[in-house]
Amino acid sequence: MTKSTESLHSSWHALREQVEAALERAMHLDGECPSRLSEAMAYSLHAGGKRLRPVLVLMACEACGGNLEDAMPAACAIEMVHTYSLIHDDLPAMDDDDYRRGRLTNHKVFGEAMGILAGDGLLTLAFEIMARDVRPAVVAAACCADLAFAAGARGMVGGQVADLEAESRSTSGSKVMAGETAVEHESDQQTRAARATELEAIHRRKTGRLIRSALTLGGRIAQADVATLGVLDHYGTCIGLAFQIADDVLDVTGTQDKLGKGVGKDAGLGKLTYPSLIGLERSRQKAQDLINEACLAIAPWGERGQKLQAMARFVLERDH
Ligand code: IPE
Ligand code: IPE
Ligand code: MG
Ligand code: MG
Ligand code: MG
Repeated sequence: MTKSTESLHSSWHALREQVEAALERAMHLDGECPSRLSEAMAYSLHAGGKRLRPVLVLMACEACGGNLEDAMPAACAIEMVHTYSLIHDDLPAMDDDDYRRGRLTNHKVFGEAMGILAGDGLLTLAFEIMARDVRPAVVAAACCADLAFAAGARGMVGGQVADLEAESRSTSGSKVMAGETAVEHESDQQTRAARATELEAIHRRKTGRLIRSALTLGGRIAQADVATLGVLDHYGTCIGLAFQIADDVLDVTGTQDKLGKGVGKDAGLGKLTYPSLIGLERSRQKAQDLINEACLAIAPWGERGQKLQAMARFVLERDH
């Protein structure tokens, strides 16, 4: 392990522990919440996970001279929104997955109705916490708008719809089976280029926008200026897209043991993914280019951007 990887691990570990403790506190709901519902919400929220998004909120806030404690409500909120998106993503009507974060998926344990409602509960709790606990109120409002845009119809939810639409197109053709095969049937280069544009738009929305929001939330809480928010936006956009490309690659090359979720699912479902469209090598190269661009964006920050530099490299090198 290199020195910078080691120091990333230790700062990530320390921040993650603070996030875990804050999430525990945030989940102490009063008796108004049905106990089965809080059990289902806690089951997925406390199942581990890398806590990448909340850690990015904290690191971005710190890099902009802000206070970690002030950023914790936003860190919790984004992790709740992310966890809700995973619970719904795994439902039979969507990707129909059985494992997540090393355990059975939420609906496998609690049933589909409770899975849907546990997701709804986490999504709304996120905004309750952000609106109530971020200070001052004007920053709370800006953070709510930022996260809602990232998670909503023009962000994650819209991207999930586009993901499912692309999947149903590839599986509705008579001979087309999945992934790579699907693309090879389309000899027309224009179609291929159009699919590449479509794929990038899907990934930017379904995953990229939430990750970008982690960065801008951190910046907003530190009350960073417009130019600094622009840098965070650029860095976050690049690592957000790279993160989903890496997720596509890991679905082909990774193991269930490391990832805590099923592998080889994308090809089985006929998903439009980077490996299926341009192959593994070019997918890795695209992710690498994006990470280089992200690192370049924050290079002028020098020392204070070190942790974010290391996070960008992690996105590329990760195996989980
Ligand atoms: C998985 O996200 C879903 C995607 C957006 C690719 P993560 O890989 O961050 O999952 P956890 O939070 O560590 O479980
Ligand atoms: C993630 O995409 C989408 C979300 C917004 C949750 P995937 O469907 O590829 O994520 P995994 O592979 O199931 O984690
Ligand atoms: Mg999905
Ligand atoms: Mg999925
Ligand atoms: Mg995936």
